[in-house]
Amino acid sequence: MKTIVISLGGSVLVPSLESNNVSKYASVLKTIAEKCRIFVVVGGGGEARRYIGAARQLGINEAASDELGILVTRMNARLLVGALGTAAYPRVAENYTEAKEFAEAGKIVVMGGVTPAQTTDAVSAVLAESVCADLLINATSVNGIYSVDPRKDTDAVRYERLTPLQLLEIISGCRLNAGSNIVFDIVAGKVLERCRIPLLVLDGRDPENLYRAVIFGDFIGTVVSDEGIFPLPV
Ligand code: UTP
Repeated sequence: MKTIVISLGGSVLVPSLESNNVSKYASVLKTIAEKCRIFVVVGGGGEARRYIGAARQLGINEAASDELGILVTRMNARLLVGALGTAAYPRVAENYTEAKEFAEAGKIVVMGGVTPAQTTDAVSAVLAESVCADLLINATSVNGIYSVDPRKDTDAVRYERLTPLQLLEIISGCRLNAGSNIVFDIVAGKVLERCRIPLLVLDGRDPENLYRAVIFGDFIGTVVSDEGIFPLPV
């Protein structure tokens, strides 16, 4: 059975608390979990950025603002655990050892942020390395990695395939303040470059995209890997 780590952006799981995708994702994840072992890392989304914005206005430093962001990722993770019911381990893992321990129960393991100065992309990459995952999927609010931010520049070109080194070159110029909005963080990029686990970046705003990618190998996105062989469909 293959092991997949899924990084689920807060912006796609909980675009807003009033109209969220938690129930839809719970059902997609339960279906996927019948075919492979999955770990889900949940992001903080807009709610984390609102807390971080308020913290900055109060003069709170970046590290302490990051801690607030981490708390929000864990609240989003709790929502998902609740919606998954008995399919998930009932606690949100707070570190990689816990995630591995919880996985012994044979259930979906959910975690949020871990430590300041990174994003949940880094958590998902380190987790993928820790559990020897076959694949890391980043379900985010764009349909892949672009030459420049497609929301700011209409000339942006989407990459179909990148090597881990090319990915590092693209992201190395980005700043990493609390709440920053980069497609994949530099810590995550470095971890991928050393562990060589393939990464798929896809548009997670529609939960069906994750389902089609894992079950049928049908996706629009960016694959980051050196290898010709790609471990989808499961
Ligand atoms: P994320 O940036 O990972 O979630 O965490 P996100 O922004 O919702 O993901 P996308 O954009 O939808 O894909 C939110 C904030 O929490 C802090 C950082 O400040 C980050 O910007 N954080 C998160 C940490 O400091 N450490 C972590 O391990 C995770």
